[in-house]
Amino acid sequence: MPHRPYVIDQMISAKAIAARVEALAREITTHYADCDKLVVVGLLRGSFVFIADLVREIHLPVEVDFLEASSYGDAMHSSREVKILKDLRGEIAGRDVLVVEDIVDTGFTLHHVVKLLKSREPARLEVCALLDKPSRREVPIKATWTGFEIPDEFVVGYGIDFAQRNRNLPYIGKVRFTDEGAA
Ligand code: IMP
Ligand code: MG
Repeated sequence: MPHRPYVIDQMISAKAIAARVEALAREITTHYADCDKLVVVGLLRGSFVFIADLVREIHLPVEVDFLEASSYGDAMHSSREVKILKDLRGEIAGRDVLVVEDIVDTGFTLHHVVKLLKSREPARLEVCALLDKPSRREVPIKATWTGFEIPDEFVVGYGIDFAQRNRNLPYIGKVRFTDEGAA
């Protein structure tokens, strides 16, 4: 199916993201100061840029692992059914775990992932989400650390896609369809 034409309006600049990522990493470094090796779990694919920047500002020994969960039935709407497409490589029992997510939208993905990882009995499990759309929440869940709260807009960039496009934008922008109102 050919895609609808759209433009991207910048919402959060690369500079604002960098400043916020540094502040989040500072809080995380303080929180885990007594931890000998933190397991940072990136949720693929949307968190790959965020986790790369975040771990380089966390001044603690870290191990990086990835988990891929899929909830998207189509490009813009959650299917509410979360599937694990790729599991962690490492064990997390008794470990300190930080889950890194790109966006918390309805909350289904994070709820499912947190439940799954907690069943493996980590010592502590916290979540750092770059973006949060609180007005869209259907499952009551909140990240320990949130980069930015945003309104109900579909966003792309800094790792986040629209039908696998625009992940490589250095900023976060909102998708605006240019055929709105057309038949
Ligand atoms: P949830 O399960 O509805 O909370 O969906 C979370 C996932 O949906 C995020 O990890 C993203 O991958 C995706 N998602 C939610 N909102 C957006 C958006 O505005 N742009 C791109 N992906 C999104
Ligand atoms: Mg995601």
